[in-house]
Amino acid sequence: MTIASSVYPEWNVEAARDLISVIASEPGPVLRCLQAIQERFGYVPADAVSLVAEACNVSRADVHGVLTYYADLRTTMPPAIPVRLCAAEACQAVGGRELRDRWKARCEASPELAASTGVDEPVFCLGNCALGPAATVGGELVGLADVDSIEQRVRRAMGASS
Ligand code: FES
Repeated sequence: MTIASSVYPEWNVEAARDLISVIASEPGPVLRCLQAIQERFGYVPADAVSLVAEACNVSRADVHGVLTYYADLRTTMPPAIPVRLCAAEACQAVGGRELRDRWKARCEASPELAASTGVDEPVFCLGNCALGPAATVGGELVGLADVDSIEQRVRRAMGASS
């Protein structure tokens, strides 16, 4: 079993321009350009807004609107091993909120853990409602999650990436 860690190339304007040049000529290109940039670099840096606006012939405000509307688009580099806890109703009903509080406390007690996993970004339903509370660790789905099972997976991923 492999847990993905976030390893992306450094932001590069020319590489991004090449990446979006084909997409920009297709219908409805703004979202697809932003997604392509995030897929390549792990996030959408501020420089990308004007790049996409120019390539798609729209205003920077239009691009900014798309960028801020979609919760899955991020404007900062993701942590090495992102942990996302489900905040939707089915998971809340089986302890999702308590899991979030306990995970936050665990990260506060361990700077190493906090640095590797970053700030928790809630996700709304991972499609694993029957096995809630659900989470993802480095993109891998975890059912019946508790802080120990999450930490164990994070530490395994940390070991695999060091
Ligand atoms: S509500 Fe949490 S996985 Fe669906």
